[in-house]
Amino acid sequence: MTQPQTEFRRPPGPDQPVTLGIDPETLATLQGLQGDYGDMVSLTKPNGRLAYFVNDAHEVRRILTRRHSKYHKGPGFERVKMLLGNGLIVSDGDVWRRSRTMIQPAFSRQNVHRLMTVMVECSDRRAVRWAEAARNGETLNITEETCDFALELILISIFGDDYETRIVTQGDNPFAFLSRDSTRDLSVVMKVRHLRELLTSIIEDRRAGRGSQHFDFLAMYLDATDKQGNPFSDGELLDELMTLIVAGFETSANTLNWVWYLIAKHPEVEQKLIAEAESIVPNVSAITAENLTAMQYTQQALEETLRLYPPVWLFTRRSHAEDELDDYDVPTGTDIYLSPYILHRTEHYWPDPDRFDPERFAPTDTPKKDRPYFPFSLGPRRCLGEYFSFLEMKVHLGLLLPRFRMRLVDETPPGLELAINLRSARDIFVQPEER
Ligand code: HEM
Repeated sequence: MTQPQTEFRRPPGPDQPVTLGIDPETLATLQGLQGDYGDMVSLTKPNGRLAYFVNDAHEVRRILTRRHSKYHKGPGFERVKMLLGNGLIVSDGDVWRRSRTMIQPAFSRQNVHRLMTVMVECSDRRAVRWAEAARNGETLNITEETCDFALELILISIFGDDYETRIVTQGDNPFAFLSRDSTRDLSVVMKVRHLRELLTSIIEDRRAGRGSQHFDFLAMYLDATDKQGNPFSDGELLDELMTLIVAGFETSANTLNWVWYLIAKHPEVEQKLIAEAESIVPNVSAITAENLTAMQYTQQALEETLRLYPPVWLFTRRSHAEDELDDYDVPTGTDIYLSPYILHRTEHYWPDPDRFDPERFAPTDTPKKDRPYFPFSLGPRRCLGEYFSFLEMKVHLGLLLPRFRMRLVDETPPGLELAINLRSARDIFVQPEER
């Protein structure tokens, strides 16, 4: 008997309420639901709210692209909101659209290319430290090193010379705590307050014509205007700067952490990466945008690392209009869960999914569309820093890998820490050797 059209069409799922967060238990829960019910699962949360877990490549793409205007950011952003106010990552609707339009030009390829010297400078600083550690036979905490590299890089890219004169002079980097998830630590509130005061005073000086006169993100954000010709207010600017720092360093740092780990485990990949770096960027003066684009194998290794360890491993959305997905209805107010981590490791899309193999991303004639891959998200809310981060990571690897061999101190897998970002559960230590 055919069902009447008016009946609510709900995907299969468990009868009992299910708790979902952004934590390790949620990964296990979602994987279990996928195994039990397939690629479209519905469930009820303990507070009675309806939620769908969508693991179908086609439907995920639709939610993030053509249907994106029916969805806002979803649950789990509480800590992020505390840090980022209403900045680009957490805002929605008209506020998001206005900010995105104002900020997007700062990320043009031309502008990012002007920041390549900062990428080289930050890689050089690491080289000095690592050479000394190698000479002294010391181990390096590569998790901390990649974190410091990416944090310093984003701060200099934003503040130019003000980084040295206004931030380094504060003693311990006042932004460093951002890399440690300390939601329950009350001192975070104080630290955030202190940061906002520091940023406010840098902004005031810039507006008054004092401070760095160099090309940097802050200069571009200060110049940005909306369609009515209005610039960001100080409060908006603060939120957007905090957003840029948080969005811009932890993701790249985590990717570099994993890439050093994977390279140490795969000597054949290491050899190919070194050969490519030595032929394309044999010295610092060969670091040009064209040459970095030509580093095809390095690009593939980075893409494969992001397939296995997407820093944003779970996206949440909430529908604010009715929608249809596959043959199912999505009522207004439904929470949606999408996981790049799970989809990137789903066997029927990615054969032998846990194997690290950069050849998966070799250029081919077959369309990539049907292979779900979205470490930077898709559609209008796609990451603004994608090009910046690939350039930064290629400069880092291109200059440092040919100089240093990193042997893992501990060969056991470091495990996953699953919070807003996916990190290694323990820090990774290496023994550096100069080649
Ligand atoms: C490997 C590096 C990176 C990864 C994997 C990554 C991933 C992502 C993802 C998945 C989102 C969307 C999140 C969501 O919709 O819930 C996002 C947004 C964003 N990212 Fe990145 N990101 C990276 C590096 C960067 C860098 C280096 C910057 C800045 C320099 C940056 C700036 C942003 C901004 C501003 C947004 C908000 C865009 C919007 O909502 O309109 N990201 N990123």
